Amino acid sequence: METEVLPIQKDGIERAARLIAEGRLVAFPTETVYGLGADGMNAAACAEIFAVKGRPADNPLILHLADAGDIGRVMAKAPDLLMTRLMEQFWPGPLTMVVPSRDSVPALVRGGLETVAVRVPGLISARKLIAACNTPLAAPSANRSGKPSPTTARHVLEDLGGRIPLILDGGPTAMGVESTVLDMTVYPPQLLRPGALAREAIEAVAGTLAAPDASDRPRSPGMKYRHYAPNAPVFWLQSEDPEQILQFLATLGTAKTVGVLAPRAILERIAWPGAVSLGKDDGDAARRLYAGLRALDAGQPSAIVVVFTARSGLGEAVANRLAKASHAGDRA
Ligand code: TXA
Ligand code: MG
Repeated sequence: METEVLPIQKDGIERAARLIAEGRLVAFPTETVYGLGADGMNAAACAEIFAVKGRPADNPLILHLADAGDIGRVMAKAPDLLMTRLMEQFWPGPLTMVVPSRDSVPALVRGGLETVAVRVPGLISARKLIAACNTPLAAPSANRSGKPSPTTARHVLEDLGGRIPLILDGGPTAMGVESTVLDMTVYPPQLLRPGALAREAIEAVAGTLAAPDASDRPRSPGMKYRHYAPNAPVFWLQSEDPEQILQFLATLGTAKTVGVLAPRAILERIAWPGAVSLGKDDGDAARRLYAGLRALDAGQPSAIVVVFTARSGLGEAVANRLAKASHAGDRA
């Protein structure tokens, strides 16, 4: 199959809406990462998402709405006061809420659960696309399962070229890490996945959130799988001491074999040829993490070392992805 790449503008959106109506898949940008979209109410179209990504069937999808007012299409009850305040405060934006699902949402979208994950993306062109499709779009990140999420149309093409008919290109994504996932079916709401909306911002509205409960069955099934990992093994180093960093790098190899991803301030002090910068703060690190992992991996290093210490709410999402990428070997 030929994969077309069109800008996310009028013609591209019209073409995408026709494909979605036919039950086909279209990759599109959001403010977080690129998504692999299908008609979220069409079970056969959603099954195709799992096949194309190579995604386990018990890992449910997020439904994307054009407008918060459309929540009744997918949610079984009316939002309570707290959810209404979160919707007002953070939608459109990178907050996904897990809510009781209507029966009309295909079981595959929900991974067989009674709940469904839903968000209204912050990127205006993504909302125009969803409105043109006139149906909630089911969309996981548009990478092959287990690979770093795509933050450019080129990343999507690398992973899914030849497997999907259309990629809408909106340039590099603004945030670079996935949305924050919050379970609204428990009180206090439970943070299932740290993400592009900082925990502190949510807690200012909702009070202290419950942390994921390790002893419980995984409440966010996606969090148990190998994730975000390039081919080379990833080592996450939480150090700001140039001597210690260089010592660790020397145990792994030389600049010819070991790729390094680190904040600019650290790169200025360790001078590692071919190193890729994570920029000046946690927002930069979030934007650059996945692209940096992909860029280093392309050089086929024997190891990738990421030097990163979280400072802010967005840093929590980066640290979470690094923990998963660096422990990937333990997971199936
Ligand atoms: O930023 C994002 O959220 C991107 C863009 C494209 O919107 N999408 C994304 O989707 O990251 P995905 O499929 O890669 O991650 C969805 C996460 C997974 O961890 C999944 O297990 C969890 O949301 N999830 C989905 N439905 C759920 C449910 N009903 N209960 C608990 N967790 C759920
Ligand atoms: Mg994903």
